[in-house]
Amino acid sequence: MDKATKMNSLTRILTVAIASGAALLLSQCNYAGNQSGMHFFLDMHDSPAVESQEEDPSTLDEVYEGNYEKTMGSLESWGGPGSAARTAPEGTVPRNKTPYLIPAADFDRAAAELTNPLRPTKEVLELGQKKYNTYCAACHGNTGMGDGPVTPRFADIPALTGPDSLVLDWEDGRIFHIITVGRARMRPYAAQTTEKERWAIIHYINLLQKQGQ
Ligand code: HEC
Repeated sequence: MDKATKMNSLTRILTVAIASGAALLLSQCNYAGNQSGMHFFLDMHDSPAVESQEEDPSTLDEVYEGNYEKTMGSLESWGGPGSAARTAPEGTVPRNKTPYLIPAADFDRAAAELTNPLRPTKEVLELGQKKYNTYCAACHGNTGMGDGPVTPRFADIPALTGPDSLVLDWEDGRIFHIITVGRARMRPYAAQTTEKERWAIIHYINLLQKQGQ
């Protein structure tokens, strides 16, 4: 074998070796499936992530110094130590969220300060209708008369429409406040609806009120 042929076969062997190495590496890449492929560096493989309704053992000792009783499932432990779903620390604001700073009891301030930023266009009213029928009608009724399907089991649901309704002369901000923070037996609906949807619901209630007169 002369020198040139020797170099040639060496190059060939090297090429094959590099190509199969690359093929092996690339075969572990998988953009679509749930297979994570072969892991060469395990550092970040087992991250300490917890699912939102699981216990988070890393927080158990924070407050209870090891005396925490496992009570997951009861409302008590929800958001507290040991729960993976933590309430945000005081003074922090989640990203892309505008904090709602009006205290729950301050209906008058909400009524004075908040105005409906939406115009009652067809789209807005349709959005309001959809969300009202989803979140409010079960109790307050499809036309707002306080006669929703749960009324046999849930007494004294106020009418939002009709001549006797106290809500008729409520400012939009006052209604926004009660949907956002709730009152007495009515739960807040801020988690289920966006601000825009709540203002749209209010336009829809105003429409129902006009129709009811
Ligand atoms: C599970 C039943 C239920 C659902 C669902 C519900 N409400 Fe209520 N709502 C009530 C009850 C009960 C009250 C009375 C609260 C109280 O006693 O302070 C009330 C009160 C109100 C009031 C004040 C009425 C008044 O006369 O003082 C408004 C306005 C209102 N709800 C709007 C809504 C809107 C808008 C939705 C949907 C986003 C909604 N509610 C969903 C049960 C419900």
